[in-house]
Amino acid sequence: MKRIVVLISGTGSNMQAIQQACEDEKVTGEIVAVISNKASAKGLEKAAAKGIDTEVLSHKEFDSREAYDAELKSLIDSYQPDLVVLAGFMRILTGEFTRHYEGRMFNIHPSLLPKYKGVNTHQRALDAGDTEHGVSVHFVTEELDGGPVVLQAKVPIFEGDTVEEVQARVHEQEHRIYPLVVNWFCQERLKLQGGRVTLDGEVLGAQGYATE
Ligand code: GAR
Repeated sequence: MKRIVVLISGTGSNMQAIQQACEDEKVTGEIVAVISNKASAKGLEKAAAKGIDTEVLSHKEFDSREAYDAELKSLIDSYQPDLVVLAGFMRILTGEFTRHYEGRMFNIHPSLLPKYKGVNTHQRALDAGDTEHGVSVHFVTEELDGGPVVLQAKVPIFEGDTVEEVQARVHEQEHRIYPLVVNWFCQERLKLQGGRVTLDGEVLGAQGYATE
């Protein structure tokens, strides 16, 4: 069983999807802690209700990003995780932090990376008149939303769609692909080697695992 620490800032629906997959034995791992930078994060209650340790480490109590990340690192490492999962953790991370977890930290980002790094991805896709949008799971590196992609899922954008409709469609795919990637890692099938992602020893392309 791999030990997983999940970092959240909000609803925690991806954390829940991974937790459920662990409970259903679709992921050979267990979430040992859920940590949030916000005490108000709804996902904390959901995790506690499942008997998972929860922690709040507010960034407001730190003078610098470096100081916060150093403390966050100590807190995470006190749980001795094999894997760190960013699931709606809305913080920019320092290089020292990302290097420490290189090859054992994932992020989920609501766009077809490298398109739309950063925030407001659904609105930006709508504004651009895109007919296709989606979500990416990637290994975290120092570059914001720039680490090697493991898996993407696409969703259509229909004429007249609202941000909420697009977001709901993306969320559905997030909950499908994040547990899958976490399980590949837990089964030691997925690795980051020399900046390249391998699955079962095969090097994945820039768009990650090709599902089409
Ligand atoms: C998800 O849509 C995730 O892709 C996004 O935050 C949401 C969290 O939802 N992440 C980012 O924007 C990271 N830059 P959740 O709290 O319900 O899992």
